[in-house]
Amino acid sequence: MNINKIFRYFATGSLVLAVSITSCNTKSAQSQSKEDDEVVALIRKMSMEEKVGQMTQVTLDMILYDTSTTVVDPAKLKIALLEKNVGSILNTKGHAYSLEQWHEIQRQIQDVATKETPNKIPVLYGIDAIHGTTYTLGSTLFPHNIGMAATRNPELVKNGSKITAAETRASGIRWNFDPTLGIGREPLWSRFEETYGEDVVLVSTMADAAIRGYEEDGLKSTTSVASCMKHFLGYSTPRTGKDRTPSYIAETQLREYYLPPFEAAVKAGTSTVMINSGEINGIPVHGSAYYLQTILREELQFKGVAVSDWEDVIRLHTRHNIASTPKEAVKIAVNAGVDMSMVPLDYTFYDLLLELVQDGEVSQARLDEAVYRILKLKFDLGLMDNAYPEEEAIANFGKPEYTDAALQAARESITLLKNDNNILPLDKNTKILLTGPTAHDITTLHSSWSYTWQGDAAQYYPEKTISIKTALENAIGSTNVISNSTTKFRDAENTNVDFVKRNAAKADVIVLALGEYAYAEGPGGIHRLDLDDNQLALAEAAFATGKPVIYLLAEGRPRVLNSIEPMAKGILQLYRPGSQGANAAVEILLGDYNPNGKLPYTYPKYSGHTLTYDHKPTELISEFVPNSYGTDGFDVQWTFGHGLSYTSFEYSGLKTSNSTLQENGNIEISVTVQNTGDRAGMESVELYVTDLFASVTPSVKRLKKFTKINLKPGESQEVTFSLEPSDLSFISEQGQRITEKGDFKAMVKDLTVDFALSDAGVQ
Ligand code: BGC
Repeated sequence: MNINKIFRYFATGSLVLAVSITSCNTKSAQSQSKEDDEVVALIRKMSMEEKVGQMTQVTLDMILYDTSTTVVDPAKLKIALLEKNVGSILNTKGHAYSLEQWHEIQRQIQDVATKETPNKIPVLYGIDAIHGTTYTLGSTLFPHNIGMAATRNPELVKNGSKITAAETRASGIRWNFDPTLGIGREPLWSRFEETYGEDVVLVSTMADAAIRGYEEDGLKSTTSVASCMKHFLGYSTPRTGKDRTPSYIAETQLREYYLPPFEAAVKAGTSTVMINSGEINGIPVHGSAYYLQTILREELQFKGVAVSDWEDVIRLHTRHNIASTPKEAVKIAVNAGVDMSMVPLDYTFYDLLLELVQDGEVSQARLDEAVYRILKLKFDLGLMDNAYPEEEAIANFGKPEYTDAALQAARESITLLKNDNNILPLDKNTKILLTGPTAHDITTLHSSWSYTWQGDAAQYYPEKTISIKTALENAIGSTNVISNSTTKFRDAENTNVDFVKRNAAKADVIVLALGEYAYAEGPGGIHRLDLDDNQLALAEAAFATGKPVIYLLAEGRPRVLNSIEPMAKGILQLYRPGSQGANAAVEILLGDYNPNGKLPYTYPKYSGHTLTYDHKPTELISEFVPNSYGTDGFDVQWTFGHGLSYTSFEYSGLKTSNSTLQENGNIEISVTVQNTGDRAGMESVELYVTDLFASVTPSVKRLKKFTKINLKPGESQEVTFSLEPSDLSFISEQGQRITEKGDFKAMVKDLTVDFALSDAGVQ
């Protein structure tokens, strides 16, 4: 049976299915046909109750004894799988489990699912394996996405996803709610660290890499998991800065900045999508056919499963007030396009959806469409053949090379923001006074989704995970490290000004490990971006001693440090560097590794001034004195792309292959980069373009391409980028992606070259 027949079988007039039919090419229809036959045959045998159950996802708590964190209650399991026909379970209860605990949980679930349910359909288990396999003890954790973006190295992102896929599948779990593809343009937002930063090309490139890492071996492979692009769409810039609060995003902006990463993810083959808990311009995304069908299905041609976020179906009633009853909430969400509801703490969704289908308020066709997608995923993942933890997968857990991969990712992420008079690297005989709240607390190097949801429970971290203090002592000996640091960020001792005053004379240099505690989602909310007052006071006290001061920043978002920035001679941004973050930071501090990370966001100087680098020309305007206009409106601490090295690079010879880019053609832009210092180093070479005049106000510049090179001292390399008209496209007032002829300026570092685009027309 081919795909057209399958959709005809559902006999639906739905626009979504019509689109699926027309978009399906013959090759993929043929290759999918056997499995599709099986899915359709299975759906034919299923009762309405089973179908509704497949669309129901509950959290693990629902099948555990009330007081237990790991032990499955067989009676509750039977209610879930046999009475409520639940098709999917997620999460952990409270903290990471051992591999064995996971296997036991999976075995018990799949025993009932594949032996006792009417059609023996396995359960699809989903988990948040964000920056590594969050919820399995002993897993390797990578830098959070914000640091991965600073590496400018998509290969590291892909490799990190492959390792995460391997360790997640080894745990017996085949669905990962990752990656987060919201674009990081609101630094107050507590999930900023989960983003790949503020630039659309950077986020889209990393989205592609992450999804290929998760899925490119094929979902049946024991090295893959189904990925989940999230949170669709417009979640990442809430107006209040607080998680899960409304965004107000003009359609042009939505399509220019927020949609492309999801387009890239669909092209890369992501299997599932999770929906934004919030609302855009007053429309909750979970209730919007415009976002979930018109954009997601028709425009992006996404074919996979759409899962709600936590409790978000019912919240259309309880929070957003667009549904007057819980039942209406279910109706709105399912009819808008939610295939699976992450309910997750009761069975109301199941009961209400059943009633709605019986009443004809949700059609059979809609039910079949959702169930088709869910079952197709189960077939694709090989669950129908073997739903249990796979021996071959288990063997892939905890391989020694994962540590190397995490170390390399951390090294390439860490960004040298300031290095006055080459204070860094420090000589290994230096006596260092080390203090500050992030010096000895390992959780601040990891933060959200690290062995617990909040990531703040050090007892679940692997013993081998070390703090900056320990890594520094390992490297230069404890007699060279004068430190009072404790393992808890909030201990008053960590910002004890007297300790600094008393001990500064014994040290050559003061290293302050500053930043943020570990947090995830809502609990990470803040009212102001400024670094905490006690950390500012600590920095001032350190400066007052007269010793040179270095800051190490372990933070998920840029905390404003304008008042103390001049007091530091050197500043390293660590982001949330993960399992090997302390080692990488110390290697860089001591010169064993030459830093090459580049800021993936614009670091603000003032809490109330958070422009991105790709702002509009008029956003530079200031008028602090009446009738005297200035253009100093972009007053930031460090701009996107900033990042120093221990060597120096010289750029020369920027040129284009042609002065004009023709329709359907391309233009090559080359530049020569030379390492003019005395040590080897990596450099991210970044091509920006300015559209001089356009019908929608152009940004001052936009990143178009980047690549990372490695140069020995004295070595030079010519780097060539290719631009096509589509690289110069933008979203018109009417919301279409268009190109316009005109003049452009290409920029690499401070070199510029002009070129023109001929009459390329609307694409
Ligand atoms: C988060 C999602 C996550 C889900 C399941 C929600 O609170 O927003 O990103 O995947 O929980 O844990």
